Formats: sequence, structure tokens, C-alpha cells
Amino acid sequence: MPLIKDKIHPENLPKHVAIIMDGNGRWAKYRGEDRTFGHRNAITAVRNAINACNELEIPYLTLYTFSSENWSRPNEEVNTLMNLLSVTLLQEAEEIFSKGLRLHVIGDLERLPDLVKEQLLNVQSLTKDNDKGNLILALSYGSQREILNAVKMISQEVKDGNLNIEDINEKVFENHLYTKDFPPVDLLIRTSGEVRVSNFLLWQIAYAEMQFLDVLWPDFDKDTFFQCIYDYQNKERRYGKTSEQIEEDKI
Ligand code: IPE
Ligand code: IPE
Ligand code: MG
Repeated sequence: MPLIKDKIHPENLPKHVAIIMDGNGRWAKYRGEDRTFGHRNAITAVRNAINACNELEIPYLTLYTFSSENWSRPNEEVNTLMNLLSVTLLQEAEEIFSKGLRLHVIGDLERLPDLVKEQLLNVQSLTKDNDKGNLILALSYGSQREILNAVKMISQEVKDGNLNIEDINEKVFENHLYTKDFPPVDLLIRTSGEVRVSNFLLWQIAYAEMQFLDVLWPDFDKDTFFQCIYDYQNKERRYGKTSEQIEEDKI
């Protein structure tokens, strides 16, 4: 049996993979532990996703790390998550750098604790010249707020006479999103069995393939990622066209 990784075609890789890393709490609960035990055991899975993506040379990986809605969790859990983030950034900075990855962050970063903000800036500046891949952390991120911010910025430009309403198109809109420098998402993966997008990249997933896995995030390994990519390659992305047209376009 060939390894799943060896079945992947290098010429048909997604450019941008986004992952909703869900299920830490349940993973811990099944083991009779508290939710934070799940979060602590999620770091290996994050590393697995980053390494698998890096091995395949997929240029953009976005990880949903903390949503704007997650601020409503109990204080103790939020504090644990922020501490974990801070410790992990410190520990993994060198590794991210040596892999040639560039770190980006999207979300309402003002709400993050000062220490986390500082460490994020440090790793972003450390890796700013790297070009082997882009690791994007969605932190304190909510897509509806991102879209509203874009609407506000565009409205202001119109009000100031710098933009005509007729000129507002998809490209202009995208240029006002946090993700303006990244390509659209090709593949969205969510672990934990939930089939919902939970306010993640609503605009950017317009034509993404979606995979909802019955795996809890701490159990996510490289082969799980490779399997997702293999399954992605067996989908026909039609963008509204017919299958016959897609076949003709290939010729
Ligand atoms: C994902 O796991 C981590 C974050 C949302 C920060 P959860 O903490 O949501 O775990 P479940 O969904 O409750 O199992
Ligand atoms: C989505 O997971 C957010 C992250 C993975 C960071 P949640 O666990 O917060 O999503 P819901 O509340 O179940 O939709
Ligand atoms: Mg959850």
C-alpha cells in the first residue's frame, strides 16, 4: 500500500488551506480531564498541520485559533488559552523561522493581552523576509466584523470623494479585508464533527471545498492532513460551469 502522502499529485495542490481547529474540550472530557487539558494537547496537532503543509509546499495555511465569540468563554479558560498562546509563540518562533515560514495574524488584535501582542509582533518581524510559506493565525477573529470594517472603510472613501460607488467590485472589497494579501481559501477543514463555519472567513470561502472531519483536534496528525489533500484532489471544482466545460478547459 503506497503511503497516503505519495498518492498526492504535486501539480494540483490547494494554494490556501484554512482549518477550524475544534474539539479540544471534548477530547479532554472523554479522558475525564478539564477543558484546558485539551488545549494543552492541541499544540502537537498544530505542529502536525504546519509541518504537513510545509512538506507539501502549500503556500498559505490559516488556523482559526481564537474567535471573537470565544471571548465569552469563562475567564479562566480564556486566560489559559492566552497563556498557552504566549508560551507556544515563544517556544515555536525559531522553528517557524527555520522552516522559512512567515507569520501573519488576522483579527481584532487590540483585544489581546499586551504580552501576546508583543510576541506576535516579534515573530512577525523575525519572519518577515521568509518566503517558503505563510502561516496565518486568526486570533480574536470574526468574519462578520471583518466585513463590516471593510464596509465602513469603503463608505468613508466614497464619502471623501476618493471612490465612486460604481467602482466598488469584488476586488475592491477584498482589498479591505484582513486577508487582502492572501489568495481565496481552496480548502476548508473543520475537525470535531460539527458542520458549521462559526464566523470564519465567510467571504474568502465562497468557492472553497469543505471537509468536516470526525476527528477531535488534538488527534489531528499529518496523515489526516494528507488524506484531506488527497480527497480535495478528487473533487472537480466547477465554479458554476459544467463538467464538460471544465474538461474542455483542460485541453
Ligand atoms: C477548539 O476546541 C479550541 C478553541 C475554540 C479555542 P474547543 O475548546 O471549542 O473544544 P470543544 O468544541 O468544546 O470540544
Ligand atoms: C470555532 O470553534 C473557533 C475556533 C476553532 C477557534 P468554537 O468551538 O468556538 O465554535 P462553535 O461555538 O462550536 O460554533
Ligand atoms: Mg468547539
